[in-house]
Amino acid sequence: MLGNRLRLSVFGESHGEGIGLVAENLPSGIEIDTCAIVAEMARRAPGKSPLSTPRREADEPRFISGVYKGHTTGTPLCAIIENTNTRSADYERTESFARPGHADFTGFKRYSGFNDLRGGGHFSGRLTAPIVLIGAILRPFLSAKGIEIGAHIVRIGKAEDRRLESGEITPELLSRLRAQELPVLTCGIDEKMRAEVGSAKKDGDSVGGIIETAATGLPAGLGDPMFDGVESLVSRAFFAVPAVKGVAFGAGFQAAEMRGSECNDALYTENGRVCSKTNNNGGILGGITVGTPLTVSAAIKPTPSIAIKQKTVTIDGNENGEIEVRGRHDPCIVPRAVPVLESALIFALADIIMSSYE
Ligand SMILES: Cc1cc2nc3c(=O)[nH]c(=O)nc-3n(C[C@H](O)[C@H](O)[C@H](O)COP(=O)(O)O)c2cc1C
Repeated sequence: MLGNRLRLSVFGESHGEGIGLVAENLPSGIEIDTCAIVAEMARRAPGKSPLSTPRREADEPRFISGVYKGHTTGTPLCAIIENTNTRSADYERTESFARPGHADFTGFKRYSGFNDLRGGGHFSGRLTAPIVLIGAILRPFLSAKGIEIGAHIVRIGKAEDRRLESGEITPELLSRLRAQELPVLTCGIDEKMRAEVGSAKKDGDSVGGIIETAATGLPAGLGDPMFDGVESLVSRAFFAVPAVKGVAFGAGFQAAEMRGSECNDALYTENGRVCSKTNNNGGILGGITVGTPLTVSAAIKPTPSIAIKQKTVTIDGNENGEIEVRGRHDPCIVPRAVPVLESALIFALADIIMSSYE
């Protein structure tokens, strides 16, 4: 379960009947714009480009409860997304061996072998579709408060782009990034990123990367110190996304190499708003928003399911063996994780706002 005031749970397995979500304490009266929701879900859906798995899913949600006359009612919202394109045979061939880097062995231990292993079961990247759905539902709630969210890819493999500067983070830039298949700041880097994915794919391998997500229009003073700080709550939502192995705000780990005079973001006031030219602290101080743009980066590991032969153990951990993973897998998760992380940030911020004011 994710969230303090807003409560989100996600259910389903990759190759079962379907997946979905239950969201409690949503604000009532949010308009459900089906076209916008389907467009947002399509940003995450596989099968659109050579960068992702050829598994195609329509990813159209069916609302079971919590929506009436095109608006959220505020009572628990349940939505189901059917699984229409499953090919379990690919997994049956390999499922007696645990995929290194995936949750086959840990899932088996956690559920004493009763869990549905097909396609990663509940640990599949497919379970991020409901996260995108809740983000698409809540995006207009934040927009109405002047808060916009977007993201760009900082790195795929060895191809690296620059990071966002505080002053350039505008709703227009974030909306432009959302329209790009590979959202990057520097022209031409996307081609280098494609080449990194292509070369890994050719080798039967995979690559990871870094995504920087940003929020603009946040008021100063949101969040609480320590346990319910904005960094704590956003990190929790980010680490819920499979394959995220690191989360950092502003300059993150690079702050460790700086001097105080470099790392401190000099503040100035303009038109009644506190601003800063740099954003080394990611727009958060003491767990509380400064009112400058929030930036948070996530390290995404390379897709664990790769065709290259690897040493491993049987699912129960009792015998050694080898595995060559078959099935349809992304050679790089990063492009599809962009809308997922945007949605994780939307959910965390909406929860913080609702916990603060409502
Ligand atoms: C959008 C998305 C798509 C993913 N697709 C795949 C995939 O095709 N194959 C795979 O092995 N892992 C995929 N993953 C990653 C696994 O689900 C994840 O690595 C696994 O559950 C283990 O969790 P952990 O990496 O967080 O420890 C995907 C993750 C995301 C966010």
